[in-house]
Amino acid sequence: MSQRKQQVSRRQFLNYTLTGVGGFMAAGLLAPMVRFAIDPVLQPQKQGDFVSAGITKDKLTKEPQRVDFTIEQEDAWYTSEVTKSAWVYLDENDEIVALSPICKHLGCVVNWEGSGNENQFYCPCHGGLYEKSGDNVPGTPPTAPLDVFEHEVREGTLFLGKAKPRGGA
Ligand code: FES
Repeated sequence: MSQRKQQVSRRQFLNYTLTGVGGFMAAGLLAPMVRFAIDPVLQPQKQGDFVSAGITKDKLTKEPQRVDFTIEQEDAWYTSEVTKSAWVYLDENDEIVALSPICKHLGCVVNWEGSGNENQFYCPCHGGLYEKSGDNVPGTPPTAPLDVFEHEVREGTLFLGKAKPRGGA
C-alpha cells in the first residue's frame, strides 16, 4: 500500500472555507425565518379552556336560558374575539345542562319553544325540532342531538368549554 501525501491547493482550501462559512451564515439567517413561519404549528393546542358564561349557578332554572359569552379565537397568527351562545338549564337532578344552539342539520340557531313548539327547541330554517335534552326529534331534518358544552362551576359562576357532539342516528 502506497502512502500518498494529500495536497490541498490554496484554491481548494479557500473553496472549502468559504463554502463552510457561507453555509453557516445562511443557516443562521434562515433558521429564525423558518421558525417564525411555522411557529403556530409548533404551539401546543390549548386544552380545557373555559370561559365565564356570565351567569351564576343560582340564577339557573329548569327553563333553558340563552347565555352569550365571548371567547378568544386564535387562527394561526390572528387572534379575534368571537361571541358564542349556549342554552343552559338545570335538569331534574339539578345538574347543569349546557347545549349548543347550532342546529345539526345545516347550522342555523335553534330557539327554545320557538314557533309555539312547547318544551322543545325549534330551528326556524327547516322546522327542525329537539327535545329539551337536546335529542333530535325523529322525522324532522336534524339527524343528531345538539352538541353539549363542557362546563364547570368556579366560585358559583358557570364556565363553559368546548361544545362536543353526542353522536346520533
Ligand atoms: S338548519 Fe336547522 S333544520 Fe335545517
